[in-house]
Amino acid sequence: MELTGARVAITGASSGIGESTALAFARAGAHVHLAARRTDRLEAVAEQCRAHGVEATAHTVDVRDGDAVTSWAAEVEGLGGCDVAIANAGVMWLGPLLDMPTDELRHQYDVNVHGVLHTLQAFGRPMRERGRGVLMPVSSVLSVANLPRYAAYCGSKHAVRAMAASLRIELAGTGVEVVHVLPGATESEIHAHMDVSRLPLSTREAKRVPASQVAAAMVRAARRPKAEVLCDGQGRLLYWATRLAPALVDAVLPKAMALRRRR
Ligand SMILES: NC(=O)c1ccc[n+]([C@@H]2O[C@H](COP(=O)([O-])OP(=O)(O)OC[C@H]3O[C@@H](n4cnc5c(N)ncnc54)[C@H](OP(=O)(O)O)[C@@H]3O)[C@@H](O)[C@H]2O)c1
Repeated sequence: MELTGARVAITGASSGIGESTALAFARAGAHVHLAARRTDRLEAVAEQCRAHGVEATAHTVDVRDGDAVTSWAAEVEGLGGCDVAIANAGVMWLGPLLDMPTDELRHQYDVNVHGVLHTLQAFGRPMRERGRGVLMPVSSVLSVANLPRYAAYCGSKHAVRAMAASLRIELAGTGVEVVHVLPGATESEIHAHMDVSRLPLSTREAKRVPASQVAAAMVRAARRPKAEVLCDGQGRLLYWATRLAPALVDAVLPKAMALRRRR
């Protein structure tokens, strides 16, 4: 897809991967339509995007609210239609699954699963009518791999991967592509919200790539769509190790994490 003049909608664009992705598409010449809850942060990102000579709009949207997502999508449609819709908004709460508070579990699935579904439906329906467009749900390498104390998060991301794979088959031949994005450990604010004491290893020690690296991978994938997009070496290693030897990874990874914690 040619990105100059294309319209790109991004959820969770007020920080981290979404913010970097908005800037990367704006630099590539695309108009960007940004959604999240923190309006002031979104406005600041939109302002930076406009500096690249493109249109950029900020929309206060909670992706848990399907009607709000639909209204936002209708606004973008009114501007000429959305070419790429990126369902990126997400939260991460960790801890032993059996002990996690119900409100944390619900919130996590409402954002990470229902928020993605709302976005795919709201933007995917008009794309299917037009016979073109790219839907880009963002999950994680933890949509394939499993980690102790990440069970709720992994479950929500595995759901996104399964939906993306099935939707790709449903939409085959319609002109609408489904590109599933699986970031690995990435610098962002998501880690700031975590209670580190609940973790099996100190995430402060985890190696993370800049959010701009994930953003660049998404821009490349919008230009040349493919089924799955891995964004960094560590993520690629975990993805392929889990695909090829899942039982081995399930056995070895928690031990490796425990060793790391003791160091
Ligand atoms: N960072 C990593 O290591 C990593 C690895 C793999 C996958 N991911 C995934 O990448 C995506 C982006 O995360 P990030 O790392 O960039 O974290 P982040 O900096 O915390 O960004 C999360 C974004 O989601 C938005 N958001 C959260 N709840 C929302 C809601 N109810 N409605 C609308 N927007 C909401 C936040 O905006 P507001 O608070 O303003 O609403 C923010 O813009 C997530 O899906 C995450 O699971 C991250």
